[in-house]
Amino acid sequence: MGGRPSTGWAEALQYPVKVPPRLPWGGCQRRQTRLNDIAGNTLGLKPSELQRLRNTYRRRVSAHEIVSAELARHLTEISRDTHRQVGVLLNRKGEVEQVVVGDAQKLELPDIGRARAGQVRLRGLRLVHTHLKSEPLTRDDLTDLALLRLDLVAAVGVLEDGLPGVLHWAHLVPANGDGSYWQTDTLPDVHGEQPDLASTLTALEDELARGAPVRAVGGRERAILVAVCVDGDRSAAEASLRELGELARTAGVEVLDSILQVRRQPDPRYLVGKGKLQELVLRSMQLVADVIVLDRDLSPSQSRHIAEETSLKVLDRTQLILDIFAQRAQSADGKLQVELAQLKYLLPRLSQRDDSLSRLAGGIGGRGPGETKLEIDRRRVRDRIAHLDRRISHLSNERQVRRGRRQRRELPVISIVGYTNAGKSTLLNALTNSSVLVEDKLFATLDPTSRRLRFPEEREVIITDTVGFIRDLPKDLLAAFRATLEELDEADLLLHVVDAADPARDAQVAAVERILESLQLQDTPRLLVWNKADRLAAEDLALLLRSRGGVAVSALQRQGLDALLLKADRTLFAEGSAHPLGTVHGEPLPRPPRAGLARLPPVA
Ligand code: GTP
Repeated sequence: MGGRPSTGWAEALQYPVKVPPRLPWGGCQRRQTRLNDIAGNTLGLKPSELQRLRNTYRRRVSAHEIVSAELARHLTEISRDTHRQVGVLLNRKGEVEQVVVGDAQKLELPDIGRARAGQVRLRGLRLVHTHLKSEPLTRDDLTDLALLRLDLVAAVGVLEDGLPGVLHWAHLVPANGDGSYWQTDTLPDVHGEQPDLASTLTALEDELARGAPVRAVGGRERAILVAVCVDGDRSAAEASLRELGELARTAGVEVLDSILQVRRQPDPRYLVGKGKLQELVLRSMQLVADVIVLDRDLSPSQSRHIAEETSLKVLDRTQLILDIFAQRAQSADGKLQVELAQLKYLLPRLSQRDDSLSRLAGGIGGRGPGETKLEIDRRRVRDRIAHLDRRISHLSNERQVRRGRRQRRELPVISIVGYTNAGKSTLLNALTNSSVLVEDKLFATLDPTSRRLRFPEEREVIITDTVGFIRDLPKDLLAAFRATLEELDEADLLLHVVDAADPARDAQVAAVERILESLQLQDTPRLLVWNKADRLAAEDLALLLRSRGGVAVSALQRQGLDALLLKADRTLFAEGSAHPLGTVHGEPLPRPPRAGLARLPPVA
């Protein structure tokens, strides 16, 4: 062998099969598909050669051997005479299911259909074919072994006198530490002692079944993550891949493996190279994965091409984030905004999905009775988007009225911002003794949460927690979460909470700064709060504070909070502060007593 099935490796394997998949041990399906004729490159063969090939169907080998010496010799003799590779697909009983002929270098299998995603059992068919130069199994042989989930692939060398020589074979192996998909072996002579095939296959299938996940109905999706590094910054790409893993985990997806490809530029069609994509398919079959998640936003056509090539469900970073937001939005407002972002993501994909249809619709006037389903879908989506926009801006007005009321009560506002999972909700809880949802997952908080901190002498300050920021937050989502982010406009002080123990903390600080800038909040007084100080060595912490300023706290252990409050108090009420408390109605507000914040009731 050595050639791809005629339609290309992936297409042949994924498109509906011409021949229905065979049952491993015969039955009527097998009878139907036994064509009793020769597949492949038969052009130019003499009638006598065709007859010899047809005679192959009469042969049978033991279920315990890969190939009998007699069958091997029959194949190598025809091969020598025709100068073509000749092969057979044998079932587990040792019967010839299909005879195939190729050219001198390769042999193209008929379309027997790709193994199903998640299929654990082997195909029940082995391929035995000739190699005219006794060459070992080729990469294509091995890829077909994996993608068609054949029991085994073997190549018999053809000696000059037409007799069979060396025997190379390979079978699949379960997922393993060294990342191999198959095991190859060689016997110098086909007459040598072959392994007991039947028991080898039984043991192998048992092992594959043991390693396979037990899948409950509606069980978690199993994913492989894929990232492409194009700027040469491998460690940033790795950090980003780790974050993608966290996002996937938060979305409830089980991460089985991660693949990082370094390239000069992304492949316009598949993002990764075709070879990498092929490896991805092999890996997904071995690990029984059903989803691939790409650490980069895909164009609608890239998503489609990758899904077509791999037969796997494809998600990109935005979809993952949208999914998390959809699962977690609590308020009516939050839910509407997530739906809006999802529809905006969907719309261009809808229009791309069937280009020819939409062109046709355009050509015939498009609207009314002649319009296609696609057009209707797109129009519905657009209508829904418009409707959601209206409702959201209505809700936004209501929020403004509420905020106005709050402002009339002249309450200063402190907003907690920061990268997702930095510990914002934990800090809010620690400061106010409330119990906002705290989870070690990204975006545990999606809706704005406001709490009051009561000052002595009947003064209060509002403290709000916001949605976690994230690098490359999809634009529509940023807009979608204006509910939360609008609160930031009125903040007198931003507490920028950072997970000081995260190796990617600098990149996270930069990402948050960028988002704040894009929200035109760069002038709001800001205090850096290095959280999770309990996870950092004292000298590292001291160095960090010296070089970057700010305050160190452990929100979890409720340490450093007094110092934080003191600093917040000084920043808020400092003489000549850029945003003195009195920005409300443009009038300066009476200053609260010094250290008002610091004299909050002690936190437990
Ligand atoms: P998002 O809602 O995703 O934006 O997260 P968040 O920033 O609100 O983080 P959250 O408060 O949910 O905390 C995330 C995780 O970090 C939780 O498991 C917390 O227990 C943990 N955490 C928070 N503060 C500290 C801390 O001071 N020390 C340690 N060790 N863990 C902390």
